[in-house]
Amino acid sequence: MRDIQTVINSITEKMLPRLGAAKVADYIPELAKVDPKQFGIAVTTVDGQTFVAGDAKVQFSIQSISKVFMLTLALGKTGESVWKRVGREPSGSAFNSIVQLEREMGIPRNPFVNAGAIVVTDMVLAGHQPREAIGEVLRFVRYLADDETISIDNRVAKSEQTTGYRNFALANFMSSFGNLHHPVDHTLGVYFHQCALSMNCVQLARAGLFLANRGRNPVTGHSVVSEKRARRINALMLTCGHYDGSGDFAYHVGLPGKSGVGGGILVVAPGKASVAVWSPGLNEVGNSALGSVALEMLANEMGWSVF
Ligand code: DON
Repeated sequence: MRDIQTVINSITEKMLPRLGAAKVADYIPELAKVDPKQFGIAVTTVDGQTFVAGDAKVQFSIQSISKVFMLTLALGKTGESVWKRVGREPSGSAFNSIVQLEREMGIPRNPFVNAGAIVVTDMVLAGHQPREAIGEVLRFVRYLADDETISIDNRVAKSEQTTGYRNFALANFMSSFGNLHHPVDHTLGVYFHQCALSMNCVQLARAGLFLANRGRNPVTGHSVVSEKRARRINALMLTCGHYDGSGDFAYHVGLPGKSGVGGGILVVAPGKASVAVWSPGLNEVGNSALGSVALEMLANEMGWSVF
């Protein structure tokens, strides 16, 4: 096995000349302001060591990566009955697509497309006020990462709240099928805030470590989920974590991962490590362009793959 620090230093060096070539997400005005010329990576191994390179300590908006933490919370609250309201199949459609929802009676394909994540958020809300659920989400992510400094960027949440017409459409549509149990603005209020969680690569890699270590964070000793549940969350990340780019990501990287339009990707190498990369420029399916390339290099160099 190669030395992790050497490998990520060399990957970061290779990324530097390519910085800024891909475009940042601009449909959320606050995200459009982010400098695309950034790249960071953090690897936390199951024996608790963390390796970093590049802009690994710069905060960014985790966006859809939050959907992994929300699914974990919802499974903890309601168990397998989560699957009565959301499916487990890849969608083959864009993350914000509405087309399947009508044919499939308001049941989204999986918990990682926007529609599915909105339903999961509705489960986490569970009769509480939005601000209470937002507090719960923030506490959970701080607990996972063992870092009390993690916060939510309210400007990003507000920015999406005022421009998120697609998400309002998805939520209203699902409400018409009875698949949201709270007022649309309550559920989306929580959803926009979870997406606006601001983290750096180190915090994100640590927050995902329980998934690499059979459900237990080896650093804090906290048992977050059972081994079986960790495997299942990883299975969903592998099949659905990159939307209609999931097959390609599995082909090139071979590890469960979840992307966000802020340019972050969380990847799990079971039994080995949790990895967070961040570079804000996106590819055509809305996943970090350089992040995907860097992860392919890392998986190859380290020989990490679930296959
Ligand atoms: O709902 C949205 O559109 C964003 N808050 C999150 C989308 C996202 O991150 C898709 N990921 N690649």
